[in-house]
Amino acid sequence: MDSARIERLQESLRDAAPLTVVKTALSTFGHDVAISFSGAEDVLLIEYASQTGLPFRVFSLDTGRLHPETLEYMAAVERRYDLRIEYCLPDHRELEPFVRAKGLFSFYEDGHAECCGVRKVAPLRRQLGTLRAWLTGVRRDQNEGTRGALPTVQPDPEFIGSDGKPLLKFNPLAHTTRAEVWAAITALEVPHNPLHDRGMLSIGCAPCTRSIHPGMHERDGRWWWESPEKKECGLHPPTKDGAP
Ligand code: ADX
Ligand code: SF4
Repeated sequence: MDSARIERLQESLRDAAPLTVVKTALSTFGHDVAISFSGAEDVLLIEYASQTGLPFRVFSLDTGRLHPETLEYMAAVERRYDLRIEYCLPDHRELEPFVRAKGLFSFYEDGHAECCGVRKVAPLRRQLGTLRAWLTGVRRDQNEGTRGALPTVQPDPEFIGSDGKPLLKFNPLAHTTRAEVWAAITALEVPHNPLHDRGMLSIGCAPCTRSIHPGMHERDGRWWWESPEKKECGLHPPTKDGAP
């Protein structure tokens, strides 16, 4: 897509409702766009996609370290929306040497970048290489420091699509607050991951996710041993102004 068209899309969707953003992405890119689903409250994207009546694709990064509850929840979402999630697994040629050299919990010692690189970023890069656009559930309020200037539509700063150009990244929930997301999930009777009911506001891999107490920020439940600016795993690289 040429830059003038991208700018027009950005302008028209800047303050658009999430459903409008999802519908525009699906009708513009068809089979070349997919929802990136983490098994958390980003299920709302799937609900909105189903409301459009258009065909849509969903993929998930099965890192091998997700909670069993998340895997069961993903299967329940497949049943509810009559879809097959495209699971993306780590490449054993990268994963085996890594865990054989450093064990299963090296991230507690030397940070999560290496493990996330093998289990999340590389499979994501492979999947995005088959697409021209993707839909994510990232929101500004998830991390002011790294996502605070997140736009609704952006040329992806990191990943290249099937046509050799940066993908178009749609963030339909960019301006939506956590409270608004949950109000919509409740009102629309969308099923949710039971881990949310156990104080896990933000859900990732089991060893890197914990329950938090009232008053703590949701990101305090992720990679809690790392500093706030390191609480990104490479899927949504931050830039200096907080715009991944
Ligand atoms: S992360 O980068 O810190 O792990 P986060 O959990 O906030 O991301 O989720 C933000 C968005 O990234 C999700 O709504 C989803 O679009 C994408 N995402 C994160 N984890 C996954 C995953 N395991 N599979 C697919 N998409 C994911
Ligand atoms: Fe590995 Fe934790 Fe990253 Fe999952 S979140 S890929 S377990 S470091």
